[in-house]
Amino acid sequence: MKKIILFASGSGSNAENIITYFSKNKEVTFPCILCNKEDAYVKVRAQKLGVPFKYFTKEEWKSGEILKYLKSEKPDLIVLAGFLLRVTEDIVKAFPNKIINIHPALLPKHGGKGMYGMHVHEAVVNDKDKESGITIHYVNENLDEGATIFQAKCEVKPTDTPEDVAHNVHELEYQYFPQVIEQVLNK
Ligand code: GAR
Repeated sequence: MKKIILFASGSGSNAENIITYFSKNKEVTFPCILCNKEDAYVKVRAQKLGVPFKYFTKEEWKSGEILKYLKSEKPDLIVLAGFLLRVTEDIVKAFPNKIINIHPALLPKHGGKGMYGMHVHEAVVNDKDKESGITIHYVNENLDEGATIFQAKCEVKPTDTPEDVAHNVHELEYQYFPQVIEQVLNK
């Protein structure tokens, strides 16, 4: 039995898509979705999916409470699916090559501090980029700098708005993220 712990901060559409993808796979379990926003929509999705939702405060994150919880759960993989806090060094060190993140752009472009969600798609449009996409990567001590596992691209048309780019990037996320998780899990 393989255990995946999900982290999310917002809507949680990726978290839902991942759980749905693995729902017929009896070898994969999701002990909970961890979230740093008490009223994030991912809470509603977790309830609908029957997966425990665990909210935590910044203090619990910084003080090592969450690290303690993760160590007690011994996950095979930790997946950041729209999680917007920087992972602490203690957690990175405790789970080498076991934490993966999805970033909604083609890293190393449009990564780092302040680059999340719509900010990324606005930057893509402002820079008049001709393409965007997704990067799935291991998490290390430096934000958005861990080794790339997978990238997929989509075209950005001159008339595209940040919302259009977000839509196309989300489609790529739904298509590829669960499969890539499965591959990493079976390595
Ligand atoms: C996703 O597009 C994900 O790539 C992005 O947040 C969105 C969450 O959507 N993550 C980041 O920006 C991390 N830097 P969701 O809550 O509907 O899954």
